[in-house]
Amino acid sequence: MRFDILSLFPEIFDAFLKSSMPGIALEKGLVRYCLHDIRDYSEDKHKKVDDRPYGGGPGMVLRCEPVVRAFEAAAAMDKRPARAIMLTPQGKTFRQDMAADLAREERLLLLCGHYEGFDERIKEMLPIEEISVGDYVLSGGESAAMVVVDAVVRLIPGVLGHKDSAGNDSFSDGMLEYPQYTRPAVYRGSGVPEVLLSGNHKEINYWRRKEAEKRTCARRPDLLDSGNTQDSE
Ligand SMILES: C[S@@+](CC[C@H](N)C(=O)[O-])C[C@H]1O[C@@H](n2cnc3c(N)ncnc32)[C@H](O)[C@@H]1O
Repeated sequence: MRFDILSLFPEIFDAFLKSSMPGIALEKGLVRYCLHDIRDYSEDKHKKVDDRPYGGGPGMVLRCEPVVRAFEAAAAMDKRPARAIMLTPQGKTFRQDMAADLAREERLLLLCGHYEGFDERIKEMLPIEEISVGDYVLSGGESAAMVVVDAVVRLIPGVLGHKDSAGNDSFSDGMLEYPQYTRPAVYRGSGVPEVLLSGNHKEINYWRRKEAEKRTCARRPDLLDSGNTQDSE
């Protein structure tokens, strides 16, 4: 999969894209990351990309011209059409099922905002979906784009090894994951549930399923209400 990331601060991505799963995906040749500096597309002699909001008010708004030019130039750099995403707190809330959907694409283009955000006409002019990573406001779309890249990359077949498989992770079957334990079996007097030491995989699976249900019910009953869960035996 090819990722095109458009930002005013592309250097923010340097360490992130080389580390952990995004880095492993890159090393395995399963992804390519192409960073684009929106400022490079400004026709202003000072490379200015923002201006004061019409109607007054605080902050600066990203201007149409550099953003649209950057988008069109990046989109044209590969013949595969890109599924384009604008990171904005006003978009549809990003969820695991969206990540799974995006992981099936051949190419994603992520547009990161800054300051007071984008001139509204950019959203009207470009073929772009608006995605939010949650109900809070970040200073820029870069950390939101990292959330999307990370969640998507780990679902691309071949990125995770079998032992790290995403199939058991929270949200993959509409529930939170069961509690996990590792050695030692007793730490400061606190033991691990007996069943996990039993070697009986049928019972272990049953226990995990029940614990996942209990935990989801207590912490995120909305997930159970949404009807995405598979029935337990
Ligand atoms: C300070 S925010 C602008 C917020 C905008 N004035 C508003 O109230 O909707 C600057 C940029 O950060 C990014 N951003 C902030 N919060 C975000 C979120 N929850 N999800 C995705 N992107 C976000 C967007 O790219 C946005 O253009």
